[in-house]
Amino acid sequence: SGPNSHIFFVLGASGDLAKKKIYPTLWWLYRDGFLPEGTRFIGYARSQITVDKIFENAAKYMKVQEDEKETFAKFKTLNSYVAGSYDKGEDFERLTNEANHLSKQESAHRLFYLALPPSVYGSVSELISKHCRPKSPGWLRLIVEKPFGKDLQSSNKLSEHLSKFFSEEEIYRIDHYLGKEMVQNIIVLRFSNQILSRVWNRDSIAAVIIIFKEDIGTQGRGGYFDEFGILRDVIQNHLMQILSILAMEKPRSTKGEDIRNEKVKVLRCVAPIKPEDVVIGQYYGDKDSKDPEHQKGYLDDDGVPKDSTTPTYAQVVVSINNERWAGVPFILRAGKALNEKKAEIRIQFRDVPGDMFDDDNRASGESKKLSRDELVMRVQPNEAVYLKLNTKRPGEMGFSIDETELDLTYGERYKGVKLPDAYERLILDVFMGSKINFVRSDELEEAWRIVDPVLADIEKKKIPVIPYKFGSIGIREAFDVAAKHGYVFRGTYVWKDERTT
Ligand code: BG6
Repeated sequence: SGPNSHIFFVLGASGDLAKKKIYPTLWWLYRDGFLPEGTRFIGYARSQITVDKIFENAAKYMKVQEDEKETFAKFKTLNSYVAGSYDKGEDFERLTNEANHLSKQESAHRLFYLALPPSVYGSVSELISKHCRPKSPGWLRLIVEKPFGKDLQSSNKLSEHLSKFFSEEEIYRIDHYLGKEMVQNIIVLRFSNQILSRVWNRDSIAAVIIIFKEDIGTQGRGGYFDEFGILRDVIQNHLMQILSILAMEKPRSTKGEDIRNEKVKVLRCVAPIKPEDVVIGQYYGDKDSKDPEHQKGYLDDDGVPKDSTTPTYAQVVVSINNERWAGVPFILRAGKALNEKKAEIRIQFRDVPGDMFDDDNRASGESKKLSRDELVMRVQPNEAVYLKLNTKRPGEMGFSIDETELDLTYGERYKGVKLPDAYERLILDVFMGSKINFVRSDELEEAWRIVDPVLADIEKKKIPVIPYKFGSIGIREAFDVAAKHGYVFRGTYVWKDERTT
């Protein structure tokens, strides 16, 4: 890399994603010295705005410290903005002229981030390819955000379109869950520990559950959300990605293509989800809450039609028909407006056969069965890996059993270690050309194939939408389905029928 060697384009620079994620991320990467020297940044959108305005909007998210002001001012001078349409070649010509002018060379590497509404992906990607390619030896990389279509068919159509103008090599489909510390750690935990790899199969594992919970509603994103729903927003992408890494066979190496080959391979073994294994719901406001946000139900979001049946909660049970996993349910559960914000993976092991610790050894009032071991990877907040085990209750005579944890909570064990934001890692990956953490087109197609029939059933209103209260633990029916599939929930929550109140 030489002077002005890379140009990072933010398409949709005036939008929500640019302001909340992309500009802040670029700033942090620049501040921490991760970007190649001479990198410049060009925003592009339809509005007649300025760099000042963009930075003003993003200020809240950039979190510039007092002693960073100087560096920040420098970063700002490396930014420019071009206003133009999303469908006219001459506007993209102008963008290229600006880029050439700024970098004083036509062969600077170019990275394009499409932070755009899906309706303009088609034309923008085409025009970038036609008008914005750098001269050799400069390369071009296109970063695409979800939604990658709405279903299998529209996703394939988008893939086909992109493949007309870009090689797969050039396309980086972002799924920001792949940039999270604990998601990346799955590969290390699984394949660097004999004690885990030996039991990572149907002989030892009874059930796997991948949980995504948020304690906020759609918060004004209702317009986007209503068209997609939680299955497309979170399950088809984030949770399915986690599933594929949890379940894949061991890749030949840590190279991107080797890993992605294994991810696709295991997804190919997944049967389409059965309607009876699907539970969906939609939140309503909690009129008794003191928090005005919690009083609002999904239908109160301005962007949402009053009769919408779009699910904000969903649980599906996935079965993987291969030698390692046949018969093991993978339960994917996601919900907005619940009691807490949490994402975690729970690997539940089978019951101990021939339990010799009979009831007498358990303190009164406890479950009569030995608890199952469980490996929990907490993705957020407060990253942790812990293994729930049975141990002898310390100090007691006899064999009283205590359910306890071998606990690796990062905040304790790795005090002071800063974990970069998911977007920081991923954008840096694009600069470096690393594809490990990006979704390949065949992976994407498989993930859509798996949820496609469920989406159609939901569309045809064949699956009841169960109401749940903002701030609640979830939907009882979902827990029942998980239990039916053999996942033992050990929480102490007592269900009461909230819908009657
Ligand atoms: C996004 C979804 O992909 O992920 C949002 O569109 C969701 O609906 C978000 O809130 C969650 O991301 P994170 O990193 O906050 O868990």
